[in-house]
Amino acid sequence: MDNSAFEMHEGTRQHVSFVGKMNTISRMEEKRQRSLMSVFLVCLLACTITTAVGVLILSLVYINNTQLHPEPELQATTIPILQKAVDPKFRFLNHLPKSKVFEFPGGTIQWARYRNNIKDYLSTEEEAFGRSLNSQRSQMTLGTLRIKSNGLRAPHWHFNANEHGYLVQGTAWIGVVDDGHVVTTYNVTAGQVIFFPKNTLHWIKNVGNEDCFFLLFFSTHDELQTLDVDDVFFSTPEDIASRSLKPEGGINFIRTFHEQKEDQGVNLPHNLAELVTNASYTQSPDNLVWRYFYDLKGSKEYRFPGGIIQLAQYWKNGSELSKNEKIFSTFLNQHQNALALSTLRIYNNGLRQPHFHFNANEMGYVISGCAKVGIINTQGTTEFDIHVGDVIFFPIGNQHYIKSACDEDLLFILAFSTGDQLQTLDMDDYLQATADHILAQLFFKKQSEFKKIPKFKEDQAINLP
Ligand SMILES: *[C@@H]1O[C@H](CO)[C@@H](O)[C@H](O)[C@H]1NC(C)=O
Ligand SMILES: *[C@@H]1O[C@H](CO)[C@@H](O)[C@H](O)[C@H]1NC(C)=O
Ligand SMILES: *[C@@H]1O[C@H](CO)[C@@H](O)[C@H](O)[C@H]1NC(C)=O
Repeated sequence: MDNSAFEMHEGTRQHVSFVGKMNTISRMEEKRQRSLMSVFLVCLLACTITTAVGVLILSLVYINNTQLHPEPELQATTIPILQKAVDPKFRFLNHLPKSKVFEFPGGTIQWARYRNNIKDYLSTEEEAFGRSLNSQRSQMTLGTLRIKSNGLRAPHWHFNANEHGYLVQGTAWIGVVDDGHVVTTYNVTAGQVIFFPKNTLHWIKNVGNEDCFFLLFFSTHDELQTLDVDDVFFSTPEDIASRSLKPEGGINFIRTFHEQKEDQGVNLPHNLAELVTNASYTQSPDNLVWRYFYDLKGSKEYRFPGGIIQLAQYWKNGSELSKNEKIFSTFLNQHQNALALSTLRIYNNGLRQPHFHFNANEMGYVISGCAKVGIINTQGTTEFDIHVGDVIFFPIGNQHYIKSACDEDLLFILAFSTGDQLQTLDMDDYLQATADHILAQLFFKKQSEFKKIPKFKEDQAINLP
């Protein structure tokens, strides 16, 4: 089955036949007017070679600039030549609701991600975002997954990414099969987090009456590689499947399986009630479940004057975590390229003050409200508005701020590309930490003036005037 939501494209083949043509022509001409014609041909060949070398150099420079050196200055000079002019904000912003909706019998998937094939982007804006994720080596891909009631995200695994999910709405039953042949199953509801390490087989079944809506973050900036169990089954030769499974009826039983015309990535048979007569949704013990699950909504709230932060991450000092939370924290840290997830609530007019992260790229999705976002890096400041469904990307080290601008709270779900504890520095903290006389010298301002910047007892990470 062709899994269109996950499809990968091979690069277009290069045309090399013209070199052969050149040889044939030159042999014919040799016999006639050797002198003039050969001079002409040598010139032509020289021209061709020069052009080819030129193109090669150009493309090498281009590849270097976009993939190896994410330095903004280099990028800024390349983009206007080789790409259509796109508002620079789209390196940090993706209007996900405008992106392609991949439809399945049981639900839909949308993506904010890097694509190998430029044709897979719907717009130059989407392309700018995808390129930005890839060129910054971001370890970030975002998918939204909507599953209808009783729908099933087919059992599958990812070759090249850990997956971290946040359930926005609904109730689901999750299964994870790891290399110890241990099956861990559990229920998850809105506000909770799921974690599927790279190459663990997992499924998601909507067991509620309403749609499930998941935000899925994957730790890759390349094209996500996924294999669904039904696709693998139908790709396995019948005799091999028969010998492996040893079913009653042997190969004839295997032949009674028929591949569906539609991609069953998110599946929902019309006759489900006939097919499934005795479903049970068991819950594995906590010591297994909490490796793949975190109750983010129920976790400690970090309260600030202007909002609330909650974190599903690894904690160096786990003394404030519950026994189950410690299981998740420790397990996360055992995986390469794991992500940290977080919710950020900012009240109306609240400001998540300028700050940056030492050790992580950041990707976020707006659940509710609206805001003005600013990113300050070596190219200056990029400021733009965000609304429900928008996806943002803050590259590592880039200072950024978020000002809530609607009556409704801004609710952001954030992912950070680190399996370690997130490291952050806020603007007020680093200015307070810098010696007065250093600031005086830097800003051409009397040392005593800096006493005017107050120190607060309460952390002002999210403030409210
Ligand atoms: C239904 O499934 C449960 C657990 O899988 C099993 O114990 C029970 O016997 C089943 N009932 C029927 C009628 O098959
Ligand atoms: C999980 O959810 C299903 C469907 O709502 C329910 O039948 C089952 O009892 C739940 N299991 C646990 C352990 O809560
Ligand atoms: C861990 O955190 C607790 C509570 O915040 C604190 O009392 C303790 O000193 C910390 N331990 C270490 C080793 O930093």
